[in-house]
Amino acid sequence: MVLRRPLVELFAVEPDRIQVTWQSVPDAELTVQVADHKVTVATNSRPGGLILNGLTPDSSYELSIRGDRSTSFTHHFRTPGHPAGDELFRFATLNDVHLGETNFGYFKTIGDSSNHSEEPSVRCAHAAIGAFSAWGAQQLIIKGDLVHRGTKQQWSSAQQILDRVGIPTAMMLGNHEVSPSDRIDPIAAAAAMGHDLTPNVRCLDRPGIRVVLTNTTVTGSRSGRLARSHDQIIAAVADANGPCIVLLHHNLQRHRFPTFLPAGIPGPQADRLLSDLAATGTPCCISSGHTHRNRRSTRHGISLAEVGSPKDYPGVWAGYVVHEGGIRQVSYRITDPSCSEWLEQTHRAALGVWGLWSPGTVSDRCYTVNW
Ligand SMILES: [Fe+2]
Ligand SMILES: [Fe+2]
Repeated sequence: MVLRRPLVELFAVEPDRIQVTWQSVPDAELTVQVADHKVTVATNSRPGGLILNGLTPDSSYELSIRGDRSTSFTHHFRTPGHPAGDELFRFATLNDVHLGETNFGYFKTIGDSSNHSEEPSVRCAHAAIGAFSAWGAQQLIIKGDLVHRGTKQQWSSAQQILDRVGIPTAMMLGNHEVSPSDRIDPIAAAAAMGHDLTPNVRCLDRPGIRVVLTNTTVTGSRSGRLARSHDQIIAAVADANGPCIVLLHHNLQRHRFPTFLPAGIPGPQADRLLSDLAATGTPCCISSGHTHRNRRSTRHGISLAEVGSPKDYPGVWAGYVVHEGGIRQVSYRITDPSCSEWLEQTHRAALGVWGLWSPGTVSDRCYTVNW
């Protein structure tokens, strides 16, 4: 069996809209049709994407793609229903922006050959901000690794980017903020931007949900630990008046030792957290970053998501829609023309395996947790 990235794919599905994305196709034009929604778009044979609105929740559809040369694609899908009750709140997350990182791949051999004046991570961050603002996010939460080496210049770049976010923003530390390189103190840098990163666990009580922000970093280490924050996370969830989402930078490993890199939180610590969270009886789910890939699993009855980076393939941000009866995640690809060609190049990392490994499936990226 030969594994290949699809030339065109259904990347994101919401109750009333979808995102379709494509690689560098041979076609100068693509016609995308779902029921009586039909759009013809000029691709100029470059990677890109579009959003189709106006679909009916909880319905089956056929997605048809026709190119003017060779691309032809048909896919059946179903839109999810809304979780029960009214929509109460929606927020966006970004993780692993890595401002200041200019190359990608294990040996950093993938560089940006475009003549843009801004580096790819900055362009992708700007594009994500535009996309989640248009989507209607009421809050942004940054789940760590905002900066790559934590230099003064990179924090300055972060400040300039966050100044453009027109909604309340909260952030957490990632390993790249606390790595022992030429960084400045991340607590002080964040404080200068108006963010207090001192507590290991912080709660944002928003309509219908308590968002629990967690510091899992260990100075000088790429991997994460829960030793400092475990009891506070459990207390924050146990004391909540309603459902919670726990946000971590590091992924919760299944095993004591990592089965892929980068290393996250060792399995025994992760299992203890999940078991204790389940024992609180409070409905909750978890979302992390760090792995730069998109995955979803359920352990101890708790939904866990890993969300990819905006600046390397496939290039995503995540949105969460809170209803009275549940929460829905959707991850959108960044398809802004200033980013698409860079993101397309980064699929070549790890001899092309990255382009197959990182995206996950539609159900890894778009799913509902009912309370
Ligand atoms: Fe990262
Ligand atoms: Fe990380």
